[in-house]
Amino acid sequence: MPERISPELCIHIIHQAYHEVVTDPTNLNKYKSFTDGVYGEVSLQFVITMIQDERMRLVETDRFIDLGSGVGQVVLAMAALSPCALSVGVEKSPIPSAYARVSDLW
Ligand SMILES: C[S@@+](CC[C@H](N)C(=O)[O-])C[C@H]1O[C@@H](n2cnc3c(N)ncnc32)[C@H](O)[C@@H]1O
Repeated sequence: MPERISPELCIHIIHQAYHEVVTDPTNLNKYKSFTDGVYGEVSLQFVITMIQDERMRLVETDRFIDLGSGVGQVVLAMAALSPCALSVGVEKSPIPSAYARVSDLW
């Protein structure tokens, strides 16, 4: 089992990346109410609680897919903190998916 980053440091890094990339968070609120484009973010502390909950029983052969991944924070937390072999997101709205593009960081 490889050594993992602590949950606290992981949250700190993801929040730093968020503030670097999401230059104007009000853009994420540009969706039509009561549609499947409604945007919101699961708390990273909740993601950690899920990963650590023994009822989840995550193992190295599991794959995590966030259908409606927003800017990708949950995907990053699962990649860093869970034993899953794969962590990917699928996002259909152009604004959050543009913020999530890794290539824009390089
Ligand atoms: C409440 S947000 C959650 C974002 C992310 N999972 C998080 O917790 O930070 C839900 C997202 O799902 C996306 N979505 C809804 N239906 C979808 C679909 N069929 N395929 C891909 N993305 C979808 C929306 O555009 C929205 O950005």
